[in-house]
Amino acid sequence: MLSFVLAESGLELVPNELWRKPAVAADARRRGKEPGGILLDRSFHHSAMAGLREAEKRGRPDLVHAALLSVTGAPLYLEGRAEVLVHTSTGMVVEIAEKTRVPKNYIRFRGLMEEALGGRSEGGLVRARPMGMRELVGDLRPDRVFGLSVLGRQETAEGLAREVASLKAPAVVVGGFPRGHFSKETMAIINELVRIDLRPLEAHVVAARVVYEVEKAEGEFKD
Ligand SMILES: C[S@@+](CC[C@H](N)C(=O)[O-])C[C@H]1O[C@@H](n2cnc3c(N)ncnc32)[C@H](O)[C@@H]1O
Repeated sequence: MLSFVLAESGLELVPNELWRKPAVAADARRRGKEPGGILLDRSFHHSAMAGLREAEKRGRPDLVHAALLSVTGAPLYLEGRAEVLVHTSTGMVVEIAEKTRVPKNYIRFRGLMEEALGGRSEGGLVRARPMGMRELVGDLRPDRVFGLSVLGRQETAEGLAREVASLKAPAVVVGGFPRGHFSKETMAIINELVRIDLRPLEAHVVAARVVYEVEKAEGEFKD
């Protein structure tokens, strides 16, 4: 089974230090929620995020949503041959139970993530807990961890997929952030850093390409 990990993702509830910021307070009021119960989202909270530590990696639940749709809509996932985990830039891991469909509607996705990160979980299908990348990899026990990055060695998505498909329990790590690179903590658990295109691509495009190629390569290994 392939473990697909979105790492250092811009997915979190609004941190305490921003609760009183006008953009956050107004958004929470409009939604009838507490500021600490809503997702940090740069589309709405841009002005409040100035000065926030590592702000460039935070407040992008839309990127996570798009990447999750790419993975969970693919036959590899639907057939139970891949699982998906979201590690966040604030040190949480959101586990999505095998074969769970992620809502296509962003508002429903946001609600689901707000519940999970707030410690509530709809039917136990999506669960969040504090966990770093090292601990996550310790749990998954992959036989090899492939990190996807523009800084990696050049490889085609097909070539990478063939290596991935030849293993029993591979992990593929894609950044769930808009810009910047993997942190030292993430780099420490990656065995191979691979670039599948000269250009920087969106995480959901990388996810879709890798998952599709693994699907094809697994077919070749079965034949
Ligand atoms: C929007 S990018 C983050 C920007 C970052 N400078 C980069 O491209 O590595 C989100 C994630 O997509 C993956 N990614 C983007 N372009 C890639 C490429 N050409 N090859 C491999 N992975 C890529 C990486 O995992 C990256 O962390």
